[in-house]
Amino acid sequence: MRNLCVIGAGYVGLTTGACFADLGNRVTLLDIDEPRIQSLRAGQMPIYEPGLEELVRRNVKFDRLTFTTDYAEALADAEFVFIAVNTPSRADGGADLRYLQSAAASIARHLTHPLIIINKSTVPVGAGDLVADIIAQHKRNGATVSVVSNPEFLREGSAIADFLNPDRVVFGSRDPEAAQRVAQLYLPLRARIMITDLRTAELIKYASNAFLATKISFINEIAAICEKLGADVKEVAEGMGLDKRIGRAMLDAGLGYGGSCFPKDVKALEHMAAAAGCHPQLLRAVMEINQDQRWQIIRKLKDVLGDLRGKSIGLLGLAFKPNTDDMREAASVDIAQMLQAEGARVKGYDPVSMAVAAKAMPEMLLCEDPYELAERCDAVIVVTEWNEFKQLDLERLKRSMKKPVLVDGRNIYDPEKMDELGFIYLGTGRGYPMDDITSILSVHPEPVEGSQRGSRLHRHQPLGRAHAVQGHADLWQGRD
Ligand code: UDX
Ligand code: UDX
Repeated sequence: MRNLCVIGAGYVGLTTGACFADLGNRVTLLDIDEPRIQSLRAGQMPIYEPGLEELVRRNVKFDRLTFTTDYAEALADAEFVFIAVNTPSRADGGADLRYLQSAAASIARHLTHPLIIINKSTVPVGAGDLVADIIAQHKRNGATVSVVSNPEFLREGSAIADFLNPDRVVFGSRDPEAAQRVAQLYLPLRARIMITDLRTAELIKYASNAFLATKISFINEIAAICEKLGADVKEVAEGMGLDKRIGRAMLDAGLGYGGSCFPKDVKALEHMAAAAGCHPQLLRAVMEINQDQRWQIIRKLKDVLGDLRGKSIGLLGLAFKPNTDDMREAASVDIAQMLQAEGARVKGYDPVSMAVAAKAMPEMLLCEDPYELAERCDAVIVVTEWNEFKQLDLERLKRSMKKPVLVDGRNIYDPEKMDELGFIYLGTGRGYPMDDITSILSVHPEPVEGSQRGSRLHRHQPLGRAHAVQGHADLWQGRD
């Protein structure tokens, strides 16, 4: 059993603290937010993360997990201090290190004995050295401190499983012995451990998130190509993913990435690279494509509905991804703002993030369930792929809509079935609209009969859907 302190009881700190306590350590979780600590003491979670409440409750009960706002108390017996405070984006794209600096200074002021400080937060390359400098500047005695970078790779919604079954755990330090000691905390997980230098560990985190974001933007670009060429991006991703060198993960086309990490980490890496004199053009393209995914929805809606002024649009799902209530950089926020700027009325529904949504988007009308959301809507947009949306009574949904337009921003429905149900179904990269099929075919004058491409075109009848999109005006007659 080791004594640990975790600073920051957010998504990362709370998960990390609770999991280390569950591995048998004694953990003190510190947060400067007094109400947050009080509610944690009362057994209430400040965030929605599956399994977290039970994990916290169990470890509080066995006295392995305590909460405080007091640095002196938190550090009294600690051997290891994890910093997991937030590191948001600054206006120029760089990482805002205010909270990290403040945590480091507070540790230094309360330092009474040697400590290992571990940076869990995603921080720019060099921030480990910055923490060491701050400690040296503010400490009031000769207690020694080593700084270790141990970046988090926890996905919201599956953070506990990711902590307990990591693909790898990375450590970097100028003090290899300190890195070894931190690595030992993870030994019960039997995970692959990589120990490297401080700056390399810091960069591994950014490079990993930037690469995953690149995969997403790549498949989104392919989706746009699919729409023009009549292919189905879901099957393209499937086919690509079977190649072990590529892998199927992070190839779901749609509204693009959001959340507390990818947007800020890609931005911060681009900022760091540019400041260092590099030319990070790939990272810039990744961000541009991601932003464009949001705009595409507006363009598609305008294709179908014309002017959006006064139109009623329902957003199905508001969280940045399923199984979380987090709405940081969520596609729903961007899309709602874009729609409102076009004069549309926007409604929303989400299974768990309604309270967060009420604060983040006070002007949005929040509905009780998907059917209430769809009532009198000119279009419904699937923004978050919650499982419960996959089995909706779509006929009922359609009956209550003013116009049967369903924009599937996460490709959860089958285009053919949606056609059969009478929806004007607009997925992402699902082979429509085929505005220029003849010119494409003329480039390949002799298509092989019955080829994959030919049969696919036939099965999904994209020309029919394209026609439906272009000829939408006829379909609305009598519905307004
Ligand atoms: C984390 C990381 O630390 C960030 O770098 C990573 O890239 C994404 O995930 P997250 O856990 O999502 O951040 O942050 P958040 O949920 O905002 O929680 C941070 C907590 O730290 C808050 O509860 C805040 O009150 C607390 N905090 C902040 C402190 O205790 N001390 C401070 O000085 C600042
Ligand atoms: C991410 C990292 O994956 C994790 O390792 C850690 O560093 C924190 O940041 P998280 O943001 O919780 O985790 O979620 P993730 O599942 O990675 O999804 C991020 C965003 O990408 C979501 O908005 C999701 O909808 C989107 N996404 C994901 C896609 O658009 N397509 C995909 O194929 C996968």
